[in-house]
Amino acid sequence: MLTKNEALNGLPGAPHISYRNEALHLEDASLGDLARQYGTPLFVYSRAAMLAALAAYQAGFAGRNAQICYAMKANSSLGVLQVFAQAGCGFDIVSGGELERVQAVGGDMRKVIFSGVGKTRAEMRQALAAGIGCFNVESEAELDVLSDVALVMGLVAPVSIRVNPNVDPKTHPYISTGLQGNKFGVAHEDALRIYRHAASLKGLRVVGIDCHIGSQITETTPYLDAMDRILDLVTDIESAGIAIEHIDFGGGLGINYNQDAPPAADALWLELLAKLDARGYGNRKLMIEPGRSLVGNAGVCLTEVLYLKPGEQKNFCIIDAAMNDLPRPAMYQAFHAIVPLAPRGDVPELLCDVVGPVCESGDWIGRDRRLAVSAGDHLAVLSAGAYCMSMASNYNTRGRAAELLVDGAKVHLIRERETAADQMRAEKLVC
Ligand code: LLP
Repeated sequence: MLTKNEALNGLPGAPHISYRNEALHLEDASLGDLARQYGTPLFVYSRAAMLAALAAYQAGFAGRNAQICYAMKANSSLGVLQVFAQAGCGFDIVSGGELERVQAVGGDMRKVIFSGVGKTRAEMRQALAAGIGCFNVESEAELDVLSDVALVMGLVAPVSIRVNPNVDPKTHPYISTGLQGNKFGVAHEDALRIYRHAASLKGLRVVGIDCHIGSQITETTPYLDAMDRILDLVTDIESAGIAIEHIDFGGGLGINYNQDAPPAADALWLELLAKLDARGYGNRKLMIEPGRSLVGNAGVCLTEVLYLKPGEQKNFCIIDAAMNDLPRPAMYQAFHAIVPLAPRGDVPELLCDVVGPVCESGDWIGRDRRLAVSAGDHLAVLSAGAYCMSMASNYNTRGRAAELLVDGAKVHLIRERETAADQMRAEKLVC
């Protein structure tokens, strides 16, 4: 738990999140008021924070031929997608469902890239019919199937091959993807041969190369190393007579959860562009697929303290948000800062685990936190804009939370709270 002074100075999500007169605000909206009006658990996102995160990338790419494709798996709520579509972003999608979400917000299909190791034929058909910009292909077998599917439709599929640069991103093993021995991409040493194969298939047109080395990366070096490895390949592939129109460096830039200090997007790209320029690729079309760094610190999850339960070994602060709403602590032992919406000086601080109501010992949101709270108080779980709602489940038949998008003092309800009836809608009784 951050002390109040630390909280005031360096909240993840600052400057869009701040205490004003002892009340936590996101932009100009009082989060306590929103919790009382809309109930909890409740996700609240700041439009300005998303646009500021995007602006850092845009500043980094100023004057370059670059396309930012928001990796919507981080948060695919329609209201969030609208913000990025209106700002000119493309989208990195990984399923037919995500494609339909892009269509629902009127996104530009030519700016859509389709990643993922297991695209089905049906998803390929859907994406070809929609006219997406590029398939990021992850295996030789997928190339063959995609070519067949395109030929049957009388179309040619634009492809990039995801290459595994075998660089250690120094992040959690579950979210590290660019090393040998995980399921993503094709091996660096096989890439040239696979590019030749792709170029020989009638249903495909090679347009690019891509990589994505992992997520929550807080250092610049892994990106520089991956770029070197990819540029070596571009040289080899083009020497073999296969043109590479764009280079896609994936996503992965980390955010501040707990005194993390990732490079700023513009600073990172200053260094990467210097390398690209030095190697003669500075004018090439560039693509990136950021997810977390665009939305992670733009969102909070508001929750109510239900019970304080002192124990012999541990004290528990039981809240109404749980692992179904905020799965990252249970899945990755991830840290999210937890702060009160209205700090109190009149109750003693308790060292406690902050846990949800789900019937699993793994249902914890924060461990060993210092909180001065009573039942009925509200807390904010910070850095909850990415990989929270998009990974939420209905475990324990808990309805998914409502979501709000704040724009200055204006508040938009972008998702209603899910009811039990919503959850049972597709189910049938046995008759
Ligand atoms: N591109 C590809 C091909 C990806 O697989 C991913 C994320 C991204 C882009 C976006 O990465 P980002 O900029 O968000 O780091 N659920 C985990 C993170 C999983 C990331 C999966 N792939 C978490 O909560 O930490």
